[in-house]
Amino acid sequence: MDSNLDIARLRKEYTLHGLHRKDLVPDPIQQFRTWFEESVRLAGDREPNAMTLATADRQGRPAARIVLLKGFDERGFVFFTNYESRKGRDLAENPRAALNFHWPWLERQIQIEGNVARVPHDESQAYFDKRPLKSRVSAIISPQSSPVPSRAELERRFDEVSRQYPGSNPPVPEFWGGFRVAPERIEFWQGRENRLHDRFLYTLTVESTWRIERLGP
Ligand SMILES: Cc1cc2nc3c(=O)[nH]c(=O)nc-3n(C[C@H](O)[C@H](O)[C@H](O)COP(=O)(O)O)c2cc1C
Repeated sequence: MDSNLDIARLRKEYTLHGLHRKDLVPDPIQQFRTWFEESVRLAGDREPNAMTLATADRQGRPAARIVLLKGFDERGFVFFTNYESRKGRDLAENPRAALNFHWPWLERQIQIEGNVARVPHDESQAYFDKRPLKSRVSAIISPQSSPVPSRAELERRFDEVSRQYPGSNPPVPEFWGGFRVAPERIEFWQGRENRLHDRFLYTLTVESTWRIERLGP
């Protein structure tokens, strides 16, 4: 099923069939799950959980970078990072974000927007503990997004801290952890022929239900 030929056939089928109102389930998280699982299944060596994260500072100055989606459910979409990084500082000043997934192998895109909050400390610790030890050491020693004197200095700190934890579990640093984006808008985009693409936007209403509208491509 997962050969390049089969993926190409499926992509063709999707772009021909398109996305219709009747294909969508009322809950966008369920809809996301269906698309995400399919994307994972057909991703090969690509990273389907890589997403663009857009933030803005207090003045509204935007910045975007890739992070990895590490979990999602009805509460929102979770990624992990350094709280003192540029994105961390942006989110402290202006706790809103936009996420974008682009899966060219299916000609699909998903956009998500919402308010952002830190995940509870124990959730960050639990995820941190699952990472390889060397990745944890990197997170501990890296002043993410701040100037560093040299690569050599980073490696020196890496070796120093590695020696402090020979096989034992370092605690998650206070400055590191997860953020959860609680969605208010989720758009599903399916590429179609002649650029007449299909777009459906879910918007959270004041009654906490989801409104679904087709958008012009
Ligand atoms: C494929 C990919 C995955 C990444 N995943 C993460 C991630 O999960 N968390 C993270 O903090 N940075 C991740 N990065 C690095 C970020 O893109 C970025 O360089 C870093 O977080 C600093 O961003 P900032 O200065 O805007 O805060 C990833 C980069 C790539 C290319």
